[in-house]
Amino acid sequence: MAILNYLGFGGPAPATKSNPREPVRALPASWYTSEEMYQLERRAIFSKRWMLITHKTRLGQVGDYLKFDVAGYEFVLCRDRKGDINGFHNVCRHRAYPVVQGQEGTAKIFACKYHGWSYGLDGKLAKAPKYDELEGFDKSQNGLFRIHVRVDASGFVWVNLDGKEIPEVPWEEDFDGVDTQERYKVYDFDDYVLDHEYKLDGAYNWKILADNFNECYHCPIAHPDIPTLADIETHDVAGVDGYIKHQSVPTEEQKKLGMAIASTYFFPNVSISVLCHGPHFIMLQRFLPNGPKDSSMHYQIFRNKNSPEEDFQRIHRLYAKVVSEDKVLCELSQRNLNAGVFVNGQMHPRLEKGPLYFQQRARKVIREHAEREKAANQEIWPARQALPGDATVSMEDVELCTGLSCQPNQLQHSSVVYDFFTMQRGAWAGLLRVFQKRLKEGFPDLAIAEWSLVFPGNHIHIT
Ligand code: FES
Ligand SMILES: [Fe+2]
Repeated sequence: MAILNYLGFGGPAPATKSNPREPVRALPASWYTSEEMYQLERRAIFSKRWMLITHKTRLGQVGDYLKFDVAGYEFVLCRDRKGDINGFHNVCRHRAYPVVQGQEGTAKIFACKYHGWSYGLDGKLAKAPKYDELEGFDKSQNGLFRIHVRVDASGFVWVNLDGKEIPEVPWEEDFDGVDTQERYKVYDFDDYVLDHEYKLDGAYNWKILADNFNECYHCPIAHPDIPTLADIETHDVAGVDGYIKHQSVPTEEQKKLGMAIASTYFFPNVSISVLCHGPHFIMLQRFLPNGPKDSSMHYQIFRNKNSPEEDFQRIHRLYAKVVSEDKVLCELSQRNLNAGVFVNGQMHPRLEKGPLYFQQRARKVIREHAEREKAANQEIWPARQALPGDATVSMEDVELCTGLSCQPNQLQHSSVVYDFFTMQRGAWAGLLRVFQKRLKEGFPDLAIAEWSLVFPGNHIHIT
């Protein structure tokens, strides 16, 4: 299967480098271009790792809600009447229509505009018109799908989309202590308000943005203004569990202007940049994949309520220029990854320590998940709804479809999922029907006369 080749199964494992004076090969281009890899990342990373999303100041009042989309998973955060922040997928439990339409606002209740089911601020089903005349419909089992929410010691809000009661990956495993790190001590996060949000859409894989952000080897060449923000000579990063801490020793000039920047990158896709001397501004940056070659750089810019306008604008303008320069770098590199010539290059173990740490982590979690899928002989979608035990017909339907590879988001990627040795009984006939249908769509005059399974080679021969 193609995806296993990307991961190195069936071939020699890539060499691991431990000598800090030797260059290290980067992840291959296919990891930045393949739809199959993107779907695997949706299962292995975005469905089960903790992701930083925003700050709690944005959900100040009862009923305040915000909608987000990460890797195709749309969800809502909302403050309920008890003051807790809840999170749920934006999917009606009736027929999957999105319950929340706007990006943000204040609500008393969430009413679905398809058939009128409504949900409380805690996601519980309040009303399902006409369903009180049915027997055996349990309202308590039809609330919105909850996601895990954590508000850390600094007030930042994290989510984990793992559908299990307790998420498989504890927050502490990746981020223990990150919310009380030294650089946050001078900050009183209650002094901040969201000034504005903006995004830069581009034709790049989200990981190329992470690679770019986590090194400053490119800074002297590509960012003429960076010396105002950080001392390039002393810039260094340290990878700890699930985060990468950027640091440099601020110059006297930077201290005077309050411009010394200190960033922390949180695997998989978020960073927070604060200023060490004169905390005028906080930048929360998220890299949001829309597909393998298409992402958004999304920014939430918080301003210190007590900072002079001029100080806030100086740093904001400078940073906006830097990220627009990064956008061009990433787009042009991605274009060449897409072209099919370049596989990978050798990275500098000190100057590109950040992206190497990021890539090593991505490789680890992706491989682990892929190994589990291989052992289970099926794809594992941690965020997916678990059916109740009595939904036996639905389970059979799902099973049949799994054999056919008709996972909702895989119809167009059949090469990954046809595992001919493990297909369920009954799936063969269905598979043939799929082939027939596709042939008909592409070549209306063709029909399948004969087909057979060919060994060795594990492929279907169709005439
Ligand atoms: S899909 Fe929401 S009420 Fe029917
Ligand atoms: Fe940059």
